Amino acid sequence: MYILGIESSCDETAAAIVTEDRTILSNIVYSQINEHEFFGGVVPEVAARSHLEKIDVVVNNALLDARLDISDITAVAGTCGPGLIGGVIVGATFAKSISMAMNIPFIAANHLEAHALSIRLTDDVDFPYLLLLASGGHCQLCVVYSINHFEVIGKTIDDSIGESFDKVAKLLGWEYPGGPIIEKMSIHGNDRSFLLPHPLCSKDSCDFSFSGLKTAVRLAATKCQTERDKIDLCASFQRAVTDVLVYKINQAIKVCKTVKLSAVVISGGVAANKFIRIALQNACEPYGLRFLAPPVHLCTDNGVMIAWLGVEKFLAGQFNDLNFSPMPRWPLSS
Ligand code: KG4
Ligand code: ZN
Repeated sequence: MYILGIESSCDETAAAIVTEDRTILSNIVYSQINEHEFFGGVVPEVAARSHLEKIDVVVNNALLDARLDISDITAVAGTCGPGLIGGVIVGATFAKSISMAMNIPFIAANHLEAHALSIRLTDDVDFPYLLLLASGGHCQLCVVYSINHFEVIGKTIDDSIGESFDKVAKLLGWEYPGGPIIEKMSIHGNDRSFLLPHPLCSKDSCDFSFSGLKTAVRLAATKCQTERDKIDLCASFQRAVTDVLVYKINQAIKVCKTVKLSAVVISGGVAANKFIRIALQNACEPYGLRFLAPPVHLCTDNGVMIAWLGVEKFLAGQFNDLNFSPMPRWPLSS
């Protein structure tokens, strides 16, 4: 079985081919970062146009890398949301067109569900598991019971976590996306030099808030006089975010005490951050819980996770009509 996955919900045009025995035959990602860098963030119209220009060659390259012809593909999965609607329409329509032309099943992929299940491609992990989905558009904690059954137990009440990395980097004068540069600079900084707030950490809830932290960094940045100060502030920000995640993971594990969790998983672009991964790994140890994260290159958006979701849905016999409408907002189903 060869499943083609197509992703275009934000600023990566991506396609990949994955088999049911968890082999990644190809993984093509065209990143639009250079096109958005000047604006300090993703511009939806620029993103949609770029997806339209690149999707053809990206899908073709995925076939070439896998040494397959389009006629070899068993089914095609395309991201139908949530995301920037222009880009989602491009990818979803392309996937539907292949489905129609080749007479193969179409699977409407939920981008969040794809992040949530991608760990099952790279690791042996059974349901249910606790998931921290930490990306550019989301931050939520949920229990993954099965491919269609998620219980959200906490989510951000304002900014997403990746957004806070991007905004802090921007106000420190660094390029988009902020996460990788903040992680890199933090290595050289003193993460105890600025005392920053830990929003919602005195509460029992599993919800997050990052906008106050971002504002605190903005105020602290006005006091930075040297490059050294900036690097210390950046490290202090990364430490504060990590402390919040550790607090919330502990909270979530307590909330789930009646659920037989097989693991704690982090996924989404922010899961690429090694400082956060190590801290969460340490947090899970006292509970005897396995901590898992996808390989770093599969944390940020890619076609592999969409193709893998396609495999999971294909094996469950779950396909979609070609009139399935793309949705800019599409929460995880419960
Ligand atoms: O999952 P993703 O590729 O796109 C969405 O679904 O939103 O996540 C992108 C986000 C960006 O905000 C980026 O700054 C963040 O992931 N990110 C990181 C790192 N790499 C990417 N955040 C922290 N540390 C990183 N190493
Ligand atoms: Zn994503």
